[in-house]
Amino acid sequence: MNPIVAPSILASDFANLQREIEMINTSQADWIHIDVMDGVFVPNISLGVPIVEAIKRHAKKPMDVHLMIVQPEKYVEAFHKAGAETISVHIEACPHLHRNLQQIKSLGCKAGVAVNPHTPISSLEDVILDIDLVCLMSVNPGFGGQKFIERTYDKIRSLKTLINKRKAKTLIEIDGGVNQQNAKPLMDAGADVLVAGNFVFSSSNPKEVIQRLKEVS
Ligand code: DX5
Ligand code: ZN
Repeated sequence: MNPIVAPSILASDFANLQREIEMINTSQADWIHIDVMDGVFVPNISLGVPIVEAIKRHAKKPMDVHLMIVQPEKYVEAFHKAGAETISVHIEACPHLHRNLQQIKSLGCKAGVAVNPHTPISSLEDVILDIDLVCLMSVNPGFGGQKFIERTYDKIRSLKTLINKRKAKTLIEIDGGVNQQNAKPLMDAGADVLVAGNFVFSSSNPKEVIQRLKEVS
């Protein structure tokens, strides 16, 4: 199976956001990955609701919004209204994760759970049937352009085993340090969605990079 490819806008040229979105529109990318950071949950601030609204005005592909924020329940509705198709919250930021997932679904969005590198897959056991997408962090969240953490392969395999055991339909998304070298091993381990920021946007030919990722099977 070919991956769902989601370029991460964090690595794009924010001064030319319309041009970057149009590049994604005319590429083989499936989704647009949007990283929202609050400077509290992660040591960086990125973008908020007005920018997501602005992206929506040009985007022809679904927006996959990754909330790296505390108290996401305060903002989920605003991101839904801004046009997010998928909204992921961090398990580490959600003492009432089940309630957060119900809130996202009640708005008609796909509900995602993002998982930091130190968080065990076993913490998803009792909620896996409620999750449309697990965003497995293969770097520590907060910044693009970091080195891929190799332990991620084992986590993909454990997560796949859990999904199969519970007959869940959850997609596995890999976020951080994805490139042409690790794309195939990630797919072989059980990934469904590949997020790529710097690998796409630092290339002189982003569309070709997206196409090559898309052709991985
Ligand atoms: C990290 C973000 C990632 C990031 C990926 O906190 O969640 O989505 O943009 O960027 P690369 O592909 O450059 O590691
Ligand atoms: Zn992300």
